[in-house]
Amino acid sequence: METPTTHEVQVLLDRLHAEYVTHASGEVATYIPELARADPDRFGVSLATSEGRLFEAGHCDAPFTIQSISKPFTYGIALEELGRELVARHVGVEPSGDAFNSIELQTGSNRPFNPMVNSGAITVTALLHHVHGARTIDFILDRFSALAGRRLAIDPDVYESERRTGHRNRAIAHLLLNFGMVPGEAEGALDVYFRQCAITVTSRDLAMMAATLSNMGRNPITGEAAFELSTVKDVLSIMFTCGMYDYSGQWAYRVGMPAKSGVAGGVIAVVNRQLGIGTYSPRLDPYGNSCRGVEICAELSSRLGLHVFDCLNVGSSYLEAIL
Ligand code: DON
Repeated sequence: METPTTHEVQVLLDRLHAEYVTHASGEVATYIPELARADPDRFGVSLATSEGRLFEAGHCDAPFTIQSISKPFTYGIALEELGRELVARHVGVEPSGDAFNSIELQTGSNRPFNPMVNSGAITVTALLHHVHGARTIDFILDRFSALAGRRLAIDPDVYESERRTGHRNRAIAHLLLNFGMVPGEAEGALDVYFRQCAITVTSRDLAMMAATLSNMGRNPITGEAAFELSTVKDVLSIMFTCGMYDYSGQWAYRVGMPAKSGVAGGVIAVVNRQLGIGTYSPRLDPYGNSCRGVEICAELSSRLGLHVFDCLNVGSSYLEAIL
């Protein structure tokens, strides 16, 4: 009988994982005390195609909290539930060029720059909370689960840790309240925000959520429609311009994929109509992005020709031929 050969994408992932597992630069986030308990050596990388084929290496089942990677998805939910116009009156679509937790609003409109920085994400969650109250987190969990293709849950310890220590986010919420950018009161909305950041995922979940975006909003395994086409377009646009904070320009130049990072160490990246990538490694660079996550995505981009503007690379035709 013929021995099955290992797929070349799997060979590449195994090789990159073996190379980058030795890279130990960066620091685990400690400003949310519970995150400091993460094992800095955990490292998982998952790649899911828009057809649902999965390639993985390392700690792909290791759970961690989604943190800021929740932001593009909650933004998508708000666009669908509240409408683009209403959301746009409260949050912009402009890169801020500043840190994710910066305390600043756009001159004139007093809107947060975009939904990927904390001020914008808290605004988006507050808008949803104004309509759905405490049930908002159930709607978020349902939609995130549809994107991932399995039931997700909240890590109570990380939630409690951030709720107890999230004074900077409280300050941001009260600034927004002061300028009339969030309706109602701040504490209920913050509670939902802290819970959405504490949703537990794996690199495999992130790859599936990314693959759902790449597959026009439909989960490739379950077939469930999680987002409308227009939402996918809006969400990917914001991820492309603002997803990696004040590294977003360099990321677009170097990696060229819509992406989002979280302080627990996750990175999600999307190649439209082709595949999704999810990585986990808790050591972060000064921007708050996972060091290994950034490097692995850059390697996959250049080796597989995944940069959105890489005209000379074989890119999609290569993937179509081998997937
Ligand atoms: O609001 C916070 O500070 C965290 N819950 C999420 C921040 C985050 O993930 C920034 N990402 N790199």
